[in-house]
Amino acid sequence: MSRLIVVSNRVNPPSGRGEESVGGLAMALAAALREYSGLWFGWSGKTTPEFTGQLSMQRIDGVTAATVDLEDADVDEYYNGYANKTLWPLFHYRSDLTAYDRAYGEGYERVNRRFAETLRPLIERDDIVWVHDYHLIPLARELRKLGVKNRIGFFLHVPWPAHQLVITLPGHRQLVQAMFDYDLVGFQTAEYVQAFEEYVVNEAAGEQLSPGMWKAFGRTVRVGAYPIGIDAAEFAKLVRSPRAVRLRDIMTACTVFRHLIVGVDRLHYSKRLEERFLGFERLLDAHPDLRREVLMLQIAPVSREGVEAYQEIRARLDALSGRINGEFSDLDWAPFRYVNKNYRRDELAGIYRAARVGLVTPLRDGMNLVSKEYVAAQDPDDPGVLVLSRFAGAARQLSEALLVNPNSPEEIGEALHQALVMEKPERIRRWRALFDNVQREDVTAWRDAYVADLSHVEVRKTALAS
Ligand code: F6P
Repeated sequence: MSRLIVVSNRVNPPSGRGEESVGGLAMALAAALREYSGLWFGWSGKTTPEFTGQLSMQRIDGVTAATVDLEDADVDEYYNGYANKTLWPLFHYRSDLTAYDRAYGEGYERVNRRFAETLRPLIERDDIVWVHDYHLIPLARELRKLGVKNRIGFFLHVPWPAHQLVITLPGHRQLVQAMFDYDLVGFQTAEYVQAFEEYVVNEAAGEQLSPGMWKAFGRTVRVGAYPIGIDAAEFAKLVRSPRAVRLRDIMTACTVFRHLIVGVDRLHYSKRLEERFLGFERLLDAHPDLRREVLMLQIAPVSREGVEAYQEIRARLDALSGRINGEFSDLDWAPFRYVNKNYRRDELAGIYRAARVGLVTPLRDGMNLVSKEYVAAQDPDDPGVLVLSRFAGAARQLSEALLVNPNSPEEIGEALHQALVMEKPERIRRWRALFDNVQREDVTAWRDAYVADLSHVEVRKTALAS
């Protein structure tokens, strides 16, 4: 079997014991790597005064991690800049927040070149290279320039936006052209594949050679949808772990006679938390009888503090959560708990289990694995209800959730009401369909489908297009 080299901006192999607070992407990549021998390459998360390309190697629970430090300017221009101020808002349909700055673009290109130069000596003849996410779109091009002919795949974890949005990005052609230096480009959903193909047809006069095979910019690339899943078996174990059981008991005790509504998201503006808070406020406003019957817990660890838009949203959410509690609290009851702390995965599993409603309402999300974890944590005999944004990638698979428009606090409030009054037989019926999907289309299925397709691509004869 070929060795697998996974490349992503952050490298954080979890132990598999549920101790970390890492997100679904890290869990998925670690699961992929444990199966195939290989390594995980990326940024160490640290800075150095001058880039040296020196690798730090670490072996963590069956996964070899190779990381490299970056300069401060790299972090500003590539990570905070092009990745998180340009591509992230654009790909999440926030063109109002998208910053176009030439220095960001240059930093993005420079860091991708640096990553390629550092990674190149580690690549052996039969290795398969699997690159992840929007930070690293030009990486294959840089590797090809260094003579790498190996199979290289790319997977985008965030949405690929509509053609009309992509063309607002200065240098969009160059970015998409770089995707043709991969052998396989994977997206989360068929909708993102379609949007990508539309771009290729309209902007690059692309030609479809066969289903999923595209020719443009003098090169060919295979394109497909590979919806990512969770490690459902591992999550089922976490739910039964002592910490999960303890957290479930704690949450059950502090919501006695009440229903818990839970949201767990990193504090990103793309998660539409303001509208979610307002949706909860609507519920309390429209249904006074339910006021003392519910408690909403929003866990939102802070993220990307170097980006102003994140500081602003944080201030607005602080004010809004205070307002809701000020308006509805009583001597012995407050409806809302808003917590900016990180929790371990086993603790989250317990919190999900105690919650009657899982509330997941991003404006856009590549997939949103929290929704799948919420489903996997439920008691089959008395499951909770998932309220999910119709614009999350997961909505395609989890169609038995209550699907809402995340821009509408009214719709969110109504869906919360419907979830809270839903009878057990309907909860069980909906949950069974959801759980069936979460189990069947899990992380192993995702990884195997992607790696199998990448392995079947013919190896290039020359690194660069002739
Ligand atoms: O998991 C969601 C996600 O947006 C990934 O698509 C992305 O790689 C990651 O978060 C980046 O997070 P951070 O900026 O904290 O490294």
